[in-house]
Amino acid sequence: MRKMIDIDFNSSRYDELVQLRYKILLEPLGLKFLDSHRAQEEHYLHIGCIEALDDKLIGGLMLVPINHDTIRMMQVAVDGKYQREGVGTQLIKYAEKRAKEIGYSKIVMHAMLTVVHFYEKNGYHQEGDIFEEKGITFARMVKEL
Ligand SMILES: CC(C)(COP(=O)(O)OP(=O)(O)OC[C@H]1O[C@@H](n2cnc3c(N)ncnc32)[C@H](O)[C@@H]1OP(=O)(O)O)[C@@H](O)C(=O)NCCC(=O)NCCS
Repeated sequence: MRKMIDIDFNSSRYDELVQLRYKILLEPLGLKFLDSHRAQEEHYLHIGCIEALDDKLIGGLMLVPINHDTIRMMQVAVDGKYQREGVGTQLIKYAEKRAKEIGYSKIVMHAMLTVVHFYEKNGYHQEGDIFEEKGITFARMVKEL
């Protein structure tokens, strides 16, 4: 069984999440997670998916407040062994529920072009032109909650 949880900043689960994000998102691009980034994550909402069988974190994301009604979803990552089993979809649904609960009515995110379809399947639509950052092409995706 899998369960979705909120993760406290600087908890041992948060460390697990940082490691997972590194393995799935940063390492393949040759990027590092800098400790200087850690401090700014204190005020973000961190969310994880736990595989109850072995109590392991298998996916996660973070929500970053932008203004009074909009929150940005970032660093969505599912462990390679568990991809395409619905974990990403469950994470997003839980994140949307939490965002709504704390008063946000809109989620924005920047999706790599390779995964735009995944977000479209989850009700997000592309807004504006695609753009490039550090050699990677992104689309800006939006969903009203
Ligand atoms: C993208 C990601 C978060 C999706 O999570 P997931 O648990 O694998 O996705 P789900 O099982 O809930 O949804 C599956 C559907 O999303 C789409 N999808 C998922 N991963 C995809 C990928 N890498 N490329 C294209 N489509 C993908 C497919 O339509 C898939 O349906 P299908 O298996 O019937 O074809 C996950 O695969 C991941 O972490 N990938 C690597 C990191 C990444 O690219 N993160 C996004 C940063 S913007």
